[in-house]
Amino acid sequence: MSSRPGQGAAAGHGHGPRDGGARYDLVPALFAHEVAGYAAEGWMSGQDWLDDLPALLGSLLDEWELEPIGRPLHGVCAVVVPVRLLGAGRETVGVSGEGVLKVTWPHREAAAEPLALQTWNGHGAVRLVRADPSRFAMLLERLHTRDLARVEIDEACGVIGDLLSTLRRPAHPRIPSLTAYAERQAEELRAAPPVLPRRYLDQAAALAGELVTRAPSEDRLLHTDLHYTNVLGAYRSPWLAIDPKPMGGDVAFEVAPALWNRADELGTGSQVRWSLRRRLEIICEGAGIDEGRARAWTIVREADNAVDLASAGAALDAGGRDRISLAVTIIKAMND
Ligand SMILES: Nc1ncnc2c1ncn2[C@@H]1O[C@H](COP(=O)(O)OP(=O)(O)O)[C@@H](O)[C@H]1O
Ligand SMILES: [Mg+2]
Repeated sequence: MSSRPGQGAAAGHGHGPRDGGARYDLVPALFAHEVAGYAAEGWMSGQDWLDDLPALLGSLLDEWELEPIGRPLHGVCAVVVPVRLLGAGRETVGVSGEGVLKVTWPHREAAAEPLALQTWNGHGAVRLVRADPSRFAMLLERLHTRDLARVEIDEACGVIGDLLSTLRRPAHPRIPSLTAYAERQAEELRAAPPVLPRRYLDQAAALAGELVTRAPSEDRLLHTDLHYTNVLGAYRSPWLAIDPKPMGGDVAFEVAPALWNRADELGTGSQVRWSLRRRLEIICEGAGIDEGRARAWTIVREADNAVDLASAGAALDAGGRDRISLAVTIIKAMND
């Protein structure tokens, strides 16, 4: 690992700023450290992708006429380089002329991100300036660093509810279907090892089946990962969504990530159920979502999260065990 990260994609590929200002390492070491462990999911392993990443970033900066202007940010799958647009696309990003170049480790969940952003066309979500889906690369308008992580929780849930109603659009046929996901879950959860009490796995499997047999008549474009750090402040609108993992289906699927994130703020004892149900109510009311369906989808998604975590291979560490007990807590609170 120490030899890894494209230490100075900038230096190595001549992508320091064209005006001779500061240079930036385009591949953050911490990010490279995480991604190096990813096994291929349909495309390439994290390591193989990292090997080419400095060159890939270099080509994109050249081809799209971009100048890096700040330290790269990252999540768990993508590197995000703040840039100034020197050529095409400046009209899309506003007066600042600034954007971010987001390049993602290729995996299925990320494949439809440009299509979803294109569908929203800046309404409730970050604007897409251009994309190269074959390289999992996008040029986006630059938003603020401020997110919802430290906004008071009721207010943050209110913002998420409002965004969910703004983001409501018919789903393009090429967006992966929630029905297909639920059908897979119905089978996988029934066959899963008992990482959760069996009755919860069976309940989640049954709900996955029922939710799709009684699905809303029209599929909506879903973000599916609208949690507090995937909402950023902006000039043109107080809050905008970033980082969708799009699916097409029932909007009630959208609520769960706002419940399992910021879990350290749920309180203790009986407060926990109250806090979870309050978040759920605020979001459902803001977005016009049926609470019963949102609770049912949350049970399915938390069972899925727990099974995924346990099937990742190695024995669970303390963090993994805590996450599974959070899943149990959330499932209980959705049932009571
Ligand atoms: N358009 C943007 N403007 C400013 N910062 C951004 C933008 N998009 C992403 N970021 C920053 O980069 C981080 C990672 O981006 P994100 O799209 O959430 O990728 P990941 O899929 O890895 O979570 C975000 O948490 C945010 O800090
Ligand atoms: Mg993110």
